[in-house]
Amino acid sequence: MTLPGSPFLSRRDGALTLDGVALQALAERFGTPLYVYSQAAMLDALAGYQRALAGRRHLVCYAMKANSNLAVLQTFAKSGCGFDIVSGGELRRVLAAGGRADRVVFSGVGKTRAEMRFALQAGVRCFNVESESELRRLSAVASDVGVTAAVSLRVNPDVDAGTHPYISTGLRENKFGIAHDHAVAVYRLAASLPGLRVAGIDCHIGSQITQVAPYLDALDRILDLVEEVEAAGIAIDHVDLGGGLGITYTDESPPRPDELVSQVLARMDARGHGRRELLLEPGRSLVGNAGVLLTEVLYLKPGEAKNFCIVDAAMNDLMRPALYEAWMAIEPVRERQGQRQRWDVVGPVCESGDWLGRERELAVDEGDVLAVLSAGAYGMAMASNYNTRPRAAEVMIVGGEAVLVRERERTTDLFAGERPLPSVG
Ligand code: LLP
Repeated sequence: MTLPGSPFLSRRDGALTLDGVALQALAERFGTPLYVYSQAAMLDALAGYQRALAGRRHLVCYAMKANSNLAVLQTFAKSGCGFDIVSGGELRRVLAAGGRADRVVFSGVGKTRAEMRFALQAGVRCFNVESESELRRLSAVASDVGVTAAVSLRVNPDVDAGTHPYISTGLRENKFGIAHDHAVAVYRLAASLPGLRVAGIDCHIGSQITQVAPYLDALDRILDLVEEVEAAGIAIDHVDLGGGLGITYTDESPPRPDELVSQVLARMDARGHGRRELLLEPGRSLVGNAGVLLTEVLYLKPGEAKNFCIVDAAMNDLMRPALYEAWMAIEPVRERQGQRQRWDVVGPVCESGDWLGRERELAVDEGDVLAVLSAGAYGMAMASNYNTRPRAAEVMIVGGEAVLVRERERTTDLFAGERPLPSVG
């Protein structure tokens, strides 16, 4: 059987390995639930983008919301990446990982004054502005700090990325971006406000996109606008096409990063925009297939209607199945002989929505370790402490060695900031 996702994942003599390291041994050494990432797989994904962009003015800004572990950020910062951030907290992480603020673009519909101030003082490269009100506020904060903020307007191109409604962002009815029809007027406003400098234009149409066509549609709409805005005397230097490229969870075959990029560049050339700088904000496609979540089978609970395989990871560790009904492959870490049965793989959280996979054909027993594949993106980053469950540990395989890059949370950490009521009387 072929494993969906990363070429770095394989089976040797029935044992699952990531980047040559046996996952069973990692589960035993670090405990479960455990996220394991391959640094080589991340760098390989990045190289796909960089190869296609070589010789062009470009910046790959890793959308760190996908996985913001400092070791992941270090890995990308060292390889020349910038970062797409959506909060002041993410900027702090970039700086803590040795990333450069002048390679950071700041996205998001709800930036606070304090976040704007912090980002301006740190010297971020550009703000992706999503509304007229935000533009006015940024102008005021920048004037107050005494610096000029470079801005790019996030335009909603009104194209359908053909993906799940919760992760589709480029349609008119989404909360994101400035309507295409209003964009020229908002650029005029941007050019007239103090403390601002127009630097670029951007869009992001959705996530887990498995075709090139929606990108080319969005690009065309964006380039139409660039031409209109420049005709109005406002120069636009860079085009930021956002992120969104999909990965393989089951049988999807999304374009490779280099295929997407070369088609985008060809369209820019064909329309006479070849010298413009291209920014991209990939998240999932850089880290998704580079990680797995390991979990131990606690109990088998066969039943008349369903068989339940109860594992020690839950929706708080990996929210994607519960939140989006996302299908993620589940593989035994050590293959076991014997009859496969159909199991719902569920966690210990007290919610019927707490499942990792439904109706999976598996030969398993209690004590076995299972791996949820393609869990490197939006896994740990979306983990919570629901049911007072400490978050998992994270390990990165670097040059064939397993390095603990985040300790398992301790239960006492979870209520350390809480204050018991003073006793009465
Ligand atoms: N840029 C912007 C402005 C974004 O909003 C996003 C993702 C990205 C870049 C990166 O997109 P990517 O390349 O990762 O698709 N939690 C969901 C995905 C939410 C994506 C939100 N925005 C999931 O687990 O499927």
